Amino acid sequence: MRRTRCFLLLIYFIVGFLTAILCMLFFRISNFLFSTMSQSATRKPVIVVGSGLAGLSAAHEALRAGAAVHMLDRAPKPGGNSIKASSGINGAGTRFQRAQGIAGDDSFFADTVRSAGRRFTETGSPLVDRKALVEILTSQSENAVNWLADELNVDLSVVAQLGGHSIARTHRGGGKLPPGAAIVSALVEELKANSEFTLENSSEVDELLTDGSGAVRGVRYHNFDNSDGPAHELEGPVVFAAGGFAGDAHGLLSKYRPDLAGMPSTNEARPASHGLLSAIGAAFVDMDSVQIHPTGFVDPKDPGSAYKFLAAEALRGEGGILLSSKGERFINELNTRDVVSDAIMALPHSTVGSTRQWEITLLLDPGACEVAASHIGFYVWKGLVQKKKVRDLAPEVISAVDKYAAIVSKHEEDALGRKTFGHWRLPPGEANRDEEVCVGIVTPVVHFTMGGVAFDTQARVLRLEDGNELAPIPGLWAAGEITGGIHGANRLGGSSLLECAVFGRIAGIQAAKSVMTV
Ligand code: FAD
Ligand code: SIN
Repeated sequence: MRRTRCFLLLIYFIVGFLTAILCMLFFRISNFLFSTMSQSATRKPVIVVGSGLAGLSAAHEALRAGAAVHMLDRAPKPGGNSIKASSGINGAGTRFQRAQGIAGDDSFFADTVRSAGRRFTETGSPLVDRKALVEILTSQSENAVNWLADELNVDLSVVAQLGGHSIARTHRGGGKLPPGAAIVSALVEELKANSEFTLENSSEVDELLTDGSGAVRGVRYHNFDNSDGPAHELEGPVVFAAGGFAGDAHGLLSKYRPDLAGMPSTNEARPASHGLLSAIGAAFVDMDSVQIHPTGFVDPKDPGSAYKFLAAEALRGEGGILLSSKGERFINELNTRDVVSDAIMALPHSTVGSTRQWEITLLLDPGACEVAASHIGFYVWKGLVQKKKVRDLAPEVISAVDKYAAIVSKHEEDALGRKTFGHWRLPPGEANRDEEVCVGIVTPVVHFTMGGVAFDTQARVLRLEDGNELAPIPGLWAAGEITGGIHGANRLGGSSLLECAVFGRIAGIQAAKSVMTV
């Protein structure tokens, strides 16, 4: 009897002990789960201002790092200028280059520095670390192309050589979709499938909110669809990716480059958002470095329009040539944009309505027309390019075509210094008269702003502090055309999409880290 009682007591003791342990475990697990759930419910989102490639890249990485993302864009649809990109994205050392017979590519950094010109060695204030920024841009370029091709399934298999590049490294797809649209739509689709992602279009950010110490703590914005409604406030770290000011003719352009008044632009008219950054003391660099792209189409239906459709640089890369109004070649078409545009602008111009423009013929032989078929099809449909038999061209143009065709076919040295001829295959002389070439009229256009907000290799926005030192503004990152310092006085074609992808991703990761560690 006593033994049975002892035995029962022992059983009660063991059961009680095990129950206590189970209860403790249960409370610990549920506590852990509860605190994790409530943490993620209360954790602030990464706020991304702008839904171009820089913003989309930032959002992608912030989500991957485990943060929620709230993206705001004042436009009714996502994509910004990025969706219009027509020539492609640069990458050095990619498998797509190798497939095209380019075994190695170690000149991207040097090409970028050469193109940046005097700005690269400038010692003025504020001093951003240009070398470090260009090193990141160029060394991460293969990775950026692989990211888009492998993770987002964007076709980037066609590689062309643009102006100022010593090798073909600008990637686009082989299909009908231009590279900007292909990249943006792939990213938007991927982001929208993530429940932690919120996109609000028609929502303009009016102010960056700061705390007492000057750190950014969120944004104030309003929604155009509800313009009478109250302003909204959103708390969280901010990635500012609001693009450049090439469409802000009466604002920043007239402030920094009044000499460009009356020039047409490839950017739709829109006010810049740089003022939101200056309001909190951010520093700016190179604001007077504005890129004039040599070839915007003059639309025969609306020749004086201040907005021009871009004639992609890839058209020249694939073999196109430029002819003056006298029907003569006058410049190596694959020189850097600043050099080509300056050469055009040294020729006589006309004023159509209130637009200052030039009349240059862009001509592609059948080889170049074929490789650029998807671009050409679209331009023909828009009425910007015509297909013509050589015999129907003006006599001086036929003569220039023959002269150039002789240089290409006989491997002679081009007096203007052009070294690569793309896919040009038209022979000189009578043999070419029934061949069809593609022609359009082009003019230099305001296209891109190299200047912008000072930032560092971690994509942190910088401000000048005591002693003229640049220091990061806590809570604020930036990427894309809003930033300055990478391209100096002249950007290489294809390097803007690249900077958006490279620095957008860095900004997204860094901003996410700041909320994940809270
Ligand atoms: P954007 O794509 O311009 O996006 C900025 C977004 O921010 C916009 O949607 C805007 O509405 C939004 N925004 C601005 N202010 C606010 C605010 N206050 N609140 C909310 N939202 C705001 N580069 C290349 O490398 N390769 C090319 O082939 C190429 N082709 C081009 C063709 C054309 C026609 C043009 C115009 C440019 C081209 N570029 C190209 C340049 C390149 O496309 C742009 O420089 C780049 O896409 C800029 O990207 P982003 O993300 O910085 O800004
Ligand atoms: C173009 O297609 O010519 C534009 C490319 C660029 O701006 O990088």
